[in-house]
Amino acid sequence: MTMRRKLIAGNWKMNGLKADGLALAQGLADKLKGGPAPACDLLVCPPFTLIAPVAAIAAGSALAVGGQDCHAKTSGAHTGDTSPVMLADLGCAYAIVGHSERRTDHAETDAVVKAKGTAAQAAGLIAIVCIGETLAQRDAGQTIEVNRSQLQGSLPDGATPDNTVIAYEPVWAIGTGRVATPAQAQEVHAAIRAELASKLGGEAASRMRILYGGSMKPDNARELLALPDVDGGLIGGASLKVADFWAIAESC
Ligand code: 13P
Repeated sequence: MTMRRKLIAGNWKMNGLKADGLALAQGLADKLKGGPAPACDLLVCPPFTLIAPVAAIAAGSALAVGGQDCHAKTSGAHTGDTSPVMLADLGCAYAIVGHSERRTDHAETDAVVKAKGTAAQAAGLIAIVCIGETLAQRDAGQTIEVNRSQLQGSLPDGATPDNTVIAYEPVWAIGTGRVATPAQAQEVHAAIRAELASKLGGEAASRMRILYGGSMKPDNARELLALPDVDGGLIGGASLKVADFWAIAESC
């Protein structure tokens, strides 16, 4: 049996002003204080503007905080960017890199994602490396090939199960309400693990967590999280409500 502890991660994306974001973080912190913790690791990735106050609320609890992106350099002339060292300085333990919205909105290539993940790891953060096919690629029968190739190009050279998490997010499932079927999710997760095994060895591959993301909700989480190669979720919309995010965590 594998010993992978599931990770339930909320990606708040560009949502939340102070009042909402802090209430959301406080709601989760209160849940953690108020009863038995779910049998998984819990992470929230607020927008940059809220990382510091959310980290203050989460301090001392089992709630981890992460960035949604980071730069590949530690400091310098990069207006508007945030370095992984700055994230670590605020109390972050994780950074998402290569989310499909970053790849699309900011033309991030696999090489850029790899550089960001490498920098995140050097700063002591766990990099959550995102990959996933578009609907056109799935319809063209390229799903496995696309994910394999993104993984090969985006995985930092020093990736280990302790500093890296993979997130499989089919682009067609993100924010659409159209979730991958359990068979679709398991097929790709198993292929990702096989690719990890050929790159890092079987032992590392068996310990590395692979999250599913894309319209994960309380009513479909249990089935997805029960799949042999699904080690958690990267959750967008449903992470913005305490009750929904908590219900997903409790499905672990
Ligand atoms: P949704 O859960 O809103 O589909 O978003 C998934 C996602 O992109 C998480 O990173």
